[in-house]
Amino acid sequence: MVRHFYDINSVNNPESLIKRALEIKQSQVRSNEGKNKTIALIFLNPSLRTRISTQEAAYRVGMQVICLNSTDAWAWELKEGAIMDGDKSEHIKDAVRVLSSYVDMIGIRCFATLKDFSEDKSDLFIKTFMKYATVPVINLESAVLHPLQSLADMVTLEEMHPGKKLNVTLTWAPHPKALPHAVANSFAQWALRAGHQLTITHPDGFELDDQFTHGATIEYNQKTALQNANIIYVKNWCSSSDYGQPAKGLHSWILDEGKIRLAPNASIMHCLPVRRNVVVTDGVLDGQQSVIYNEAHNRLFAAQAVIENLLNS
Ligand code: CP
Repeated sequence: MVRHFYDINSVNNPESLIKRALEIKQSQVRSNEGKNKTIALIFLNPSLRTRISTQEAAYRVGMQVICLNSTDAWAWELKEGAIMDGDKSEHIKDAVRVLSSYVDMIGIRCFATLKDFSEDKSDLFIKTFMKYATVPVINLESAVLHPLQSLADMVTLEEMHPGKKLNVTLTWAPHPKALPHAVANSFAQWALRAGHQLTITHPDGFELDDQFTHGATIEYNQKTALQNANIIYVKNWCSSSDYGQPAKGLHSWILDEGKIRLAPNASIMHCLPVRRNVVVTDGVLDGQQSVIYNEAHNRLFAAQAVIENLLNS
């Protein structure tokens, strides 16, 4: 059976993967483990960090990399038995089987469409992709999860506070557009598995899926949730009660200097890209407590650890 990197449950020992990513960073590991192998990275949505860090990580283990953007690919049909007389030109099973015959590993980014909550929750696109792939598939952010980001986030926590169980607050923040739940779901899943005390704060109606947040404290008062946190992870996600619609009238949830004074020792994290002075103020992002650039830097070592792990499996 082919091993994929879909979520935390794809990994036998997440703790050792975090440690390995830190070792790779500390020793600036370069290897030939992927020599004569190729990874295809397919982006159905935009990316800066995921694309470049995964590409560079693959080079660092000696792999060749091919990138494909959505504009270059055919529109893929997912439904089994579909009569393909519409706008979809190729069935995903044909595309994935062909791709698998060309390369040794595939990464795929396929965001939530934000049209139908139950359809997005099924994560059908990447699950169908993995079903037909005969080589390992890496989730570069699916409709539901972003495990490479979360692994880098856990690497960042471990690097700052080795071996410590932390008070981590995941806070919702405003955004002019509706965004997927993937980063928040995945962060909750990895932080809870790592044994951190996770508090999630968001306005009423923005609840995340309990399968990822089970074990976290849900606190609807943002200021209460921020008090005495060691880590403040800020992220927008769209409403679960008015799914796919931008939030209105919630600008007071911005993370600003006044709020982070409630947790003067906390490190501030965001996965980026971030809308400055809408989600988080410049003062917070550029301030002493911000670790956003190290967090983004750690994407490289997280990706390298995952690729190495899949090459060895
Ligand atoms: N954080 C993250 O996944 O960034 P990109 O969307 O730029 O890849």
